[in-house]
Amino acid sequence: MKRTKILIMAVLAAVVSCTQHRTTTVGTTPEIENRVEKLLSQMTLQEKIGQMNQVSAGGDVANYADALRSGQIGSILNEVDPVKINEFQRIAVEQSRLGIPLLVARDVIHGFHTEFPIPLGLAATFDPELVEEGARVAAVEATAQGVRWTFSPMLDIARDPRWGRIAEGSGEDTYLDAVMARAMVLGYQGRNLDSTSMAACIKHFVGYGAAEGGRDYNSTYLTERQLRNTYLPPFEEAVKAGAMTLMTSFNDNDGVPSTGNTFVLKDILRGEWGFDGLVVTDWNSMGEMISHGFGTDRRDVAEKAVNAGVDMDMMTFGFISHMEDLVNSGAVKVSTIDNAVRNILRIKFLLGLFENPYVDVEAAKAVQYAPAHLDAARRTAEESAILLKNDGILPLKPGARIFVTGPLADAPHDQLGTWAFDGEKEHTVTPLKALQARFPGKVSYVPGLSYSRESKPSFAGVTAAARRADAVLVFLGEEAILSGEAHSLADLNLQGSQSELLKAAKASGKPVVAVVMAGRPLTIERDLPSCNALLYSFHPGTMGGEALANLIFGDVNPSGKTPVTFLRTVGQAPLYYSHNMTGRPYSGQTLLADIPLEAGQTSLGNTSYYLDYGAYPLFPFGYGLSYTTFEYSGITLDKAEYSADDTIRVTFTLANTGKYDGTEVAQIYVRDLVGSITRPVKELKHFERVALKAGESRTVEAQIPVSALAFVGLDGTKKVESGDFLLWVSGDSASGESTRFKVK
Ligand code: GLC
Repeated sequence: MKRTKILIMAVLAAVVSCTQHRTTTVGTTPEIENRVEKLLSQMTLQEKIGQMNQVSAGGDVANYADALRSGQIGSILNEVDPVKINEFQRIAVEQSRLGIPLLVARDVIHGFHTEFPIPLGLAATFDPELVEEGARVAAVEATAQGVRWTFSPMLDIARDPRWGRIAEGSGEDTYLDAVMARAMVLGYQGRNLDSTSMAACIKHFVGYGAAEGGRDYNSTYLTERQLRNTYLPPFEEAVKAGAMTLMTSFNDNDGVPSTGNTFVLKDILRGEWGFDGLVVTDWNSMGEMISHGFGTDRRDVAEKAVNAGVDMDMMTFGFISHMEDLVNSGAVKVSTIDNAVRNILRIKFLLGLFENPYVDVEAAKAVQYAPAHLDAARRTAEESAILLKNDGILPLKPGARIFVTGPLADAPHDQLGTWAFDGEKEHTVTPLKALQARFPGKVSYVPGLSYSRESKPSFAGVTAAARRADAVLVFLGEEAILSGEAHSLADLNLQGSQSELLKAAKASGKPVVAVVMAGRPLTIERDLPSCNALLYSFHPGTMGGEALANLIFGDVNPSGKTPVTFLRTVGQAPLYYSHNMTGRPYSGQTLLADIPLEAGQTSLGNTSYYLDYGAYPLFPFGYGLSYTTFEYSGITLDKAEYSADDTIRVTFTLANTGKYDGTEVAQIYVRDLVGSITRPVKELKHFERVALKAGESRTVEAQIPVSALAFVGLDGTKKVESGDFLLWVSGDSASGESTRFKVK
C-alpha cells in the first residue's frame, strides 16, 4: 500500500510541476519572476538599457571589456569559440556591478557543426519527429560551445521561389509550417529545460516571405485577414510550443515596418497570444526604418521600436545611444523599459545562465560531429530527398560501373547550403566520396563543370566517358550562395551550362540519373527529357553524399514530398496549391500553339491561366514518387455532418502495391465550399508517414478537430462557418477523389 501511495504522490508532483511550470508561454515560474523583480529593482536606468543592447562580437574580447564591465551589453552574437565566450561571460559576470550573464546568440539554422538539410529540405521530410531530433542535435552541439540562443526557426511562408530565403523556411503551406515550427522549437529548447537548451527565435515576424516580386527586403501588402489566416498561425503555434524569443522582420507591411508595428508586436503577440518572451530586432532593422521613411533619425526610430514592443536592439545601437534621453524626456516610460528588461532577464533565468554561465571547453569538442549526430543528419537527408522522375532505372544495382559528373558531385562547401556558418566542409561526405568508398574501382569521374554558374561550349569528354559506364549520375543545382538572404533570382533555370552537361551525358545512350541540390525549386522542366530519373535534394548537408548513395542504390526508398510548388517557368510565380478558386477557374482553355490566325476576340469562356504555360505547375505541393506504388481506398468519414466542437474521424486504407518496402506521406486536404469570404480550393489539415512492406496494406484512422477548419471571416472573428466541405486523402495536393461532409 505504501509503495502505491508513494507512486501516486510522485505522479501528482510531476503533474503539478508541469502545470506549475507552464504558467505562461515561455514557462516561467513564480520563483523566476521573483528573481527577475529583485534584480530589476537593483538596476540603474543605464544598466537596464544595457540589457537591451545586442552586439555582434568578433575579434578581441578586450575591445568589449569596458562596455561589459559597465553593463552596456545584454547579448552578443557571432562568437562561437567557447574560450572567448567564457571570457565574455567572465567579464560580464565577475567584473560588472550586478554580474548579469550574457545571452550568446548565433544563427544555428539547420545544424551547428553537423549540418542537416536546409530547412526547406527538412520540411520535405514531412517528419516532425525527425526534424525535432535534428534541432536537438544542433542544440547539443551549439550549447556545448556556449551558444544558448539561435535565430531559428524561420517561419516565413514563401510562395515565390525567386525569393532566396525560401531556402530557410518550411515552404508554402501554413499547416506544414506550423508543424515544423513546433518541432524545431521543442528540439532547440528541449522538452525540459537544461544546459543543452537553446532559446529558439521565431522569425521574421511577420509576412517577410511575401516580398513583392520575390525580391528580398521588399515591401509586402498583406491584409489583416491574410495575416491571420495564412502567415500568423505558424508563429502562434510556435508560441504555444514555448518559443522563448521572436525576431521582427525587415519588411514594411501595408506601409508599416514590422520593427515599429504595434499592432503585430503588442496587440497580437502580447495581447492576444500572451507571449512573455523576448522580442529582438533583425540586424539593424530598427535603423532601416529611417531608410523606409518611417523615422527621421536613430533617436526617432528607437522611440518607435521600443514603444511598439521591441525589447532588444540588434546592431542599430539606437537604444544604447538614445534611450536614456528618451526616458528623461518622457517620450518613453520607465515601465516600458522595465517590461523589456523583464522579458530579457526571464530568458536568462530560464536558461540557467545565472547558475552556470560557463562551458567546459574540452567537453565541447567531444560532442561535435558525434556519430549519432552524423547518423541523424544522414537519415534526415535520406528522408528529405524527393523522387520527381523515375522510368524504372532506379534503384541502381550494386556492381554497376558508374560515371559521375556535375558541379555538385564533389562540392563539400556548397552541399551544406545557405546559413551553414559553422558547418565545416572538411566533414562533408559528398556523393563522389560516398560512391567511391562504397564501390571502389567502379566509379569514374569527370567534373564537367567546376561550379554551377560555369559555362562551357562543349562536353565531348563527358559523353565519351559516360559511354564506358553502365549508368551515369549527374549532380547539378546551385552553389550555396545562390540562395539565402538577399539572393533572389529572376531566372530559375539551371545556371551556366548545366542543362547542356546533362544533355551531353544523355547523348552517351546510357541511363542517366540527375540529382539536383539547390536552395529552391528550380524550373527544371526543360531538363527532364535529358534524364531517366531525377532526385531533388535541397542542399542536404554534411551527410548528403552518403544519403544520396543509399537512395540511388535502394538501401533507402525515397519518401520526400515537395514542400513548395515547382513551377514550369518563373513567369508563373507566385503559384501555390492553396489558391482561391476565382470566378473563372481554369478549365483547359486554348493554349498559345492552338490559337488560330486572326482569331476573333471574345469575353466568353475565358478563365484564369497563361496562354503559353496554362495554369498548372510542373510538380504540385506534396508530390513525390517512391520506388514502390501506393493505393488509397475506402476513404470514409465517421459522420456526414459535424458540429463545430466535433472531431472528424477519417478512415482510409493504404496499400503498398509495388515490390519495395516504402513510406508514404498520406495527406488530408479540406475545402470549405462557401464562406463569408472566398476560401482556398484546398488546405492541408493533416499528414502522416505510413511505412508499409511490399504488398502490405493498412487501415489508417486520422482525427481532425472541426476547429481546425476555423478561419477569420468577414466579421473579423475566427470561427468555423457552417456549410458543405470536401475532403481528400491522397499522396499529393493535386490527386485523389473528394468526400463531402457538412458542418452544421
Ligand atoms: C540577418 C537575417 C536574420 C539573422 C540576423 C543575424 O540579416 O535577416 O535572419 O538571424 O541577421 O544574423
